Amino acid sequence: MTKSEKWTADQMPDQTGRVAIVTGANSGIGYETAHQLARHGATVIMACRNQKKAATAAAAIEQEGPAGSVEVMTLDLADLTSVRAFAQAFRQRHDRLDLLINNAGVMMPPERWETADGFEIQFGVNHLGHFALTGLLLDPLLETPASRVVTVSSSMARFGEMNFDDLQGERSYSSRGAYSQSKLANLLFTFELQRRLAAAGAETIAVASHPGYTATDLQRHSRLFRVLNPLVAQKPEKGALPTLYAAVGEDVIGGGYYGPDGFQEMRGHPVKVTPPASARDEAAAARLWAVSEALTGVEIESGD
Ligand SMILES: NC(=O)c1ccc[n+]([C@@H]2O[C@H](COP(=O)([O-])OP(=O)(O)OC[C@H]3O[C@@H](n4cnc5c(N)ncnc54)[C@H](OP(=O)(O)O)[C@@H]3O)[C@@H](O)[C@H]2O)c1
Repeated sequence: MTKSEKWTADQMPDQTGRVAIVTGANSGIGYETAHQLARHGATVIMACRNQKKAATAAAAIEQEGPAGSVEVMTLDLADLTSVRAFAQAFRQRHDRLDLLINNAGVMMPPERWETADGFEIQFGVNHLGHFALTGLLLDPLLETPASRVVTVSSSMARFGEMNFDDLQGERSYSSRGAYSQSKLANLLFTFELQRRLAAAGAETIAVASHPGYTATDLQRHSRLFRVLNPLVAQKPEKGALPTLYAAVGEDVIGGGYYGPDGFQEMRGHPVKVTPPASARDEAAAARLWAVSEALTGVEIESGD
């Protein structure tokens, strides 16, 4: 997709017969992603931690009478037991997985929160939870032709540094630093996964997206963002486009990164964008992979 061709969700090919999981699908970008995929015929699993919010979101999609369908399943990425239970329940119900959309995220909580497994929450939810989920769902992905793993990063990844000596911010903590690190981890993970999939000759591809600046619940912990949102941010319908494009765009390539085409990639229509140089650090990606396997206990075999 070039700048002159403005892709919208209306251009999405028919998704009938395809199965997609969207994490954090009850609000913001995840909701719009689930909404559009279901509208175009997909069976969408809305993987959410809060069943009440998820049921309300699913009902709103169903009310439109989509060509596809939505199904709510419980997934708390801040608890590896929940991640394992979700993956097992999904595999009992479905025999294919075309799209895994690692979208859920938490940004800049007011203090250093931890997951059920004792991980710093942003690293734990945004990266480790999705790392484990992807590993546990790799078999159905590999068994499904042309499947994709889309992981939602952020332009804040460019400020991220992998602090391998203190990944969980136990000695020194900044909520902004931890968020940026988790979003850099999303990119390092995507590119490493793509390298491994390609080396194994798999048809599955791994790609990343970022939504620019989009007004959602993500900014719930930041007064500054909440003030700026109505002035600068785009709506979730628009913010979801890079993720949707990464998921279904016909010229999307493995290891590609997709974001908005506007000023500073803050808003606009999806195009292929350039990741920060730090995301291309293969040694850091390999180290993160090994640490993530050790922390989650999930070893990812990318087939052969
Ligand atoms: N909005 C932006 O400008 C922006 C910019 C760059 C990147 N992003 C990325 O875009 C993605 C989507 O965020 P958004 O802007 O759409 O924010 P959002 O509206 O707050 O959505 C985040 C979703 O993640 C879910 N979530 C949080 N913790 C979870 C957990 N432990 N287990 C399962 N789900 C969990 C939330 O569930 P609850 O409703 O239950 O909290 C919610 O459904 C995130 O990865 C974010 O980093 C957003």
